[in-house]
Formats: sequence, structure tokens, C-alpha cells
Amino acid sequence: MAPLSSPGPIAEHDEDALKDLIAEELGGVRARSFGLTTDVLDGDDLTSQVSPLMSPLVWDLAHVGNYEELWLLRAAAGADPMRPEIDGLYDAFEHPRAERPSLPLLPPDEARAYIGTVRAKVLDALPSVRFDTADPLTSGGFVYGMVVQHEHMHDETMLATHQLRKGAPALLDPVAEALQKPAAASGADEVLIPAGPFEMGTSDEPWAYDNERPGHMVDLPAYYIDVEPVTNAAYLAFMEAGGYDDPRWWTSAGWEWRNTSGKRAPAFWSREGGQWLRRRFGRTEPVPPREPVQHVCWYEADAYARWAGKRLPTEAEWEKAARWDPAVQRSRKFPWGDVYEEGRANLGQRLLRPSDAGSYASGASAYGVRQLIGDVWEWTSSDFHGYPGFRSFPYKEYSEVFFGPDYKVLRGGSWATHPLAIRGSFRNWDYPIRRQIFSGFRCARSAVAGGRGGSSPHRAQAGES
Ligand code: AVJ
Ligand code: FE
Repeated sequence: MAPLSSPGPIAEHDEDALKDLIAEELGGVRARSFGLTTDVLDGDDLTSQVSPLMSPLVWDLAHVGNYEELWLLRAAAGADPMRPEIDGLYDAFEHPRAERPSLPLLPPDEARAYIGTVRAKVLDALPSVRFDTADPLTSGGFVYGMVVQHEHMHDETMLATHQLRKGAPALLDPVAEALQKPAAASGADEVLIPAGPFEMGTSDEPWAYDNERPGHMVDLPAYYIDVEPVTNAAYLAFMEAGGYDDPRWWTSAGWEWRNTSGKRAPAFWSREGGQWLRRRFGRTEPVPPREPVQHVCWYEADAYARWAGKRLPTEAEWEKAARWDPAVQRSRKFPWGDVYEEGRANLGQRLLRPSDAGSYASGASAYGVRQLIGDVWEWTSSDFHGYPGFRSFPYKEYSEVFFGPDYKVLRGGSWATHPLAIRGSFRNWDYPIRRQIFSGFRCARSAVAGGRGGSSPHRAQAGES
């Protein structure tokens, strides 16, 4: 069985075992990258752009290899640049996604050859690289973990490109029933998370990013959080109740988005003959009522929550519900414990869809909250900021340049996220208008009377009519 989780505290592993895991994970992620590009598509499908929001797939492919060259050959092993003339092309900050198709990118076969050469050199150098506990770049294999996670993140981005692509399906759609656990009812819609402190973020997870650090105590008032993510059926009830047409549920920026975008349903939905359908990787099918809703933007999630008499959880509320074990007063890596285990969450592109709400009872957190990891990324109410004591490492363009009010934090990963690239402390972020990512949400509400989300306009209204 392939190791699917980053290493625990480094003292438990000897360096050779860690290097074996790294080599195996590098191979695994590359197989996935090819499985999304040159194995299944060619020509224009690789070099052209399906949306100005996305890169041509061949850009992602060469970019992951160029990033690997920068960090594993030049930074970690002191090598000279292999092809300095192409570095600029694959620098995400030099060229925004919209302009990437007009760059003189390496054609697919050259991109494949280039990243293959990089990889061969990385594997050659790996045995002699020292993981120095005094050097934060190599300690615990950090920089290797960073490169593996980076490629996994681009694999998820490439999957979003596939979802936007028109034309015949390129990806096999595995049968969901084989992997999906039957959903046993949890017996509750929401759970109470009692007031008190918890540890947010981490100081000892070796492959955690700078934005997850340092671990710090956060004291929260009591709140309720939904046991499951919001389903398609629940979201449809909001739509059918006129949710998109009632400004009471929307922030002013959200209402402006609603007006200018013209959107009145999640992305990829269409209505035919009185039925809601969705397009999923080139196939059109009825919207499955019990699946968590996907491809909604932050404004839609926020409006739904207000209509439901609730609100989005803050990032801290999401993380406490996911990680804190009140019995032993510490935060776990995953909701169910510290070790990744197959079958406790829908991760890793094993399915091309979320599992029904209520699935994976064995993946519940200490508080009994389900599907926090996997299925859909969950919008939180929080802007993306550094934690107290944040220090940018190893480069400020990973996290720090995105801090501020423009980005909202998403948590938990989706069915498209690899287990190595997700944990309870992991933070993702995007603009509140974005819907091409595999994003859904769950709701929360304050437990104290008068707290935001404590009242219920929707229910009060329903009672009046
Ligand atoms: C963490 C997903 C927001 O895609 O912009 C990829 C990840 N960073 N290459 C992004 C990332 C550098 C990042 N997200
Ligand atoms: Fe990148």
C-alpha cells in the first residue's frame, strides 16, 4: 500500500525511509499529471485555453517541472539553471493565466521531455541530499514535500480545466458505488461546539506551509455547525424560494455580483423540461439531490446561509470543529486522527464527484462533524491573513502576497485533492466570485442569543405565511 500521508514527527523516520516515500510520491503525482494531459489529450486540447481563468494544460505541465527544478535542483542541490530562457514563461507572477496561451510555451512533447529530465536529475541527487535539521528548507524533507504538494495542487487545477472544457469526455468516470460508503444518518443536522480554546494551525507538521504556522491558541464562543455540507437539494430549495431575487440575503458586493454576472444557479447547471441537469466532465446528468453542492462562489454560499437563518463558519470555527479533540485537549491532523486512512474521506480523484452528504461516518471529527476533509472545498467567512507570528517561508509568493481582504479562505479539500495536499490545518484561498474550483460550503450559527446567525429570518418568514 502506497504511503499517502506526509511523515509524522521526523524523529520517527530515518532519512532513507523518508527518501523512499518522497521518491514514491514524486512518481505517483507525475503519473496523475500525465493522466490529465499527454495520456488523454493532444494538440489544441493541450495548448489552447478553455477559459481566461485557466492556463493551457501544457503550461501547468511544464510549470510543475520548472518549479521542481527551481526548488529541488537549484535551491536544494545547488545546480545551475537547465534552461534559463524558459524560466520567465513559467513564472506565475510574470504572466497571468489569461496571457499564457500567447507565450512561446514548450510544445507538449518538449514539455514532457523537459520535466522528465528534471525528474531524473532530482532522483539522482536525492540519495546524497542531506536533510539537515538546522536547515528549514531540507529539514524533514520539507522542500520535497512542498514540490509534491505543488504538483498535486496543479493536478486539481488541471481537473478544473477539464471540467470547463467543451466536447467529448476525456476522463474515465469511475463507478461511485464501489468507493462510496452508504450514508448512515448522523441523527442531527448540526452540533454544538462548546465555548473554549483550541489550537489553530501547527508548529510541528513537517510539510505544513508557512500560512498554517505557527500553532496558536484561539478561544471561541459556543457555536453550532452543520454535520454535513449543504446539498444540491437544499441549495435548490433556496433557488426555488427566490433566493437569487431577494436582496435581503446578499451582501452589497454579492448583490452586485448577482446583477452583473446574471447567474441564477451553480456553475454547470442547466434546466431542461422542468428538471435541473449538470454537466460534469463532458457528461450531462440530473443533479443528484444528496450530493454536496459544488461550483458555487462565496457570494452564493453567504446568501444561502443568510436565507437559512445561519452564516458561514469562520475559519477558526471550521478548524476547531475539524481538529480539536476535547477529551485530550489537542488538535488532530485529520478529523478522525493523525494518520490518513483510506475510506474515511473522498479524496484523490478516485471519483470524479463528491460523495453524498452523510457519507464517511468513520471520517467524522471528535465532535461528530462529517466530510470536513474531501468532497468539496468549504468556503469560510474569513479573509486570508497570516497567523500571529507568521513568517514567510520559503518564498513570499506562496502565501504572503495574497494576504488581505480580496481573498476568502476555503478549507478541507475536495474529492479532487490528494491526501498529501490536505490536512485539517491546510488553507486554500480564492476570490469570492470564483466558481470553477470544487467549492461548496456548510453553515454555522452562533449559540449565544444575539450573536450573528442566531436569528432565523427564513424560518420566521416561513412561519408567517
Ligand atoms: C493554494 C491553490 C491558491 O493555485 O494559486 C500553485 C497553489 N501556488 N502554485 C494556486 C499554488 C503556486 C495556489 N492555491
Ligand atoms: Fe504553481
